[in-house]
Amino acid sequence: MNPTNDNLGKDKLSKVKASTPFLAIDLDNIDTKYNELTKALNNFSVYYAVKCNPEKPILQRLKTLGSKYEIASSGELDRLIEIGIEPKDVIFSNPVKSREQIEYTFNKGVYRFVFDSPEELKKLSEVAPGSSVYLRLSVSNHGSLISLSNKFGANKSHAVDLLSLAKDLGLKPYGLSFHVGSQSENIHLWDEAFDDSVDVIEELNDIGIKLQMLNIGGGFPIKYNEKVPKIKDIAKKIHKNVKKLPYELELFCEPGRYLVGEAGVIAGKIIGKATRQNRPWIYLDVGRFQSFIEMFESDSLSYPIFTSLDNVSKNEPKSMYTITGPSCDSYDTIERDVSLPTRLKEGDFLYFASAGAYTHVYGSAFNDFPVPEVVYLKG
Ligand SMILES: Cc1ncc(COP(=O)(O)O)c(C=O)c1O
Repeated sequence: MNPTNDNLGKDKLSKVKASTPFLAIDLDNIDTKYNELTKALNNFSVYYAVKCNPEKPILQRLKTLGSKYEIASSGELDRLIEIGIEPKDVIFSNPVKSREQIEYTFNKGVYRFVFDSPEELKKLSEVAPGSSVYLRLSVSNHGSLISLSNKFGANKSHAVDLLSLAKDLGLKPYGLSFHVGSQSENIHLWDEAFDDSVDVIEELNDIGIKLQMLNIGGGFPIKYNEKVPKIKDIAKKIHKNVKKLPYELELFCEPGRYLVGEAGVIAGKIIGKATRQNRPWIYLDVGRFQSFIEMFESDSLSYPIFTSLDNVSKNEPKSMYTITGPSCDSYDTIERDVSLPTRLKEGDFLYFASAGAYTHVYGSAFNDFPVPEVVYLKG
């Protein structure tokens, strides 16, 4: 990997009073990303995927920007209600939900639920009668860092039957959704997903079921160490595809990572150094278990790393480090072969950029090592 020595807000980070590990969030960066996304996808309503980072100041900032919300559980709805979000502005996009959670959220005022099976439809018709339902289609996730297509999504060939069944059960066949996989680096996935969606929407139209909404999910990529497609190029593709829809539908997207990923930096302190098999190791007070669990899902995921050292020159001696966490389990090793200054020592910090999404939310305090505290950068 190719760590960066950029001064990614290092001045602001050095002023943080919290002890490590911490996740520092720059809320202003969320404004920038939200504005970029809504400029590119100007005819889409944004439903922020709360799971990605459910911290209330983030949810609050997105509220001021005009975002709506996508939830995966009733606990996420409670968080939103606590900050004054109306349940009618929330969609429940987890395809398989417990009966209790459907009932709870429906009684609070959520009226739009995803499904991808007849079993889920039956449940919805019993505990959320008359609600609006949208079908999650299974689409190719090939070329996305995190695949979501194995666990969820109905085959296109079952779509018409499922939405017809929804109608027969007294539910409102409201829409269609898909997700191309998280951190999608393959711009063509949106073409394929749209082709399938257009076919389904047309077939339904032919039998008198006119859907109201198309939800293209998330998947918009952010900057880690590799080059990724630009949002304006992805949007260009999406707009071209929207023109293929047989009639005008409400268009939704459910971004998570794109809105908050680049706003977060995780700081860990070096608690020890060692040499093993003639190679240098750095032990941090944060490891995979506390924050970087997503790296288990994809070998290609690596965070840009920079250090608290001042005046790092291009020519100064570097070592190829293994960076590991504090627990007594070797699985919490974060990365191998990371080139960083040889002079790093106990007490120095490593910073992991683009770490605002799917990090501390996955965290486990295994061995009683704390999950990073969330702090907010000022100025
Ligand atoms: C249903 C649903 N919508 C949206 C998202 C957000 O995706 P991303 O963070 O890739 O934008 C996810 C992520 O898992 C999801 O499961």
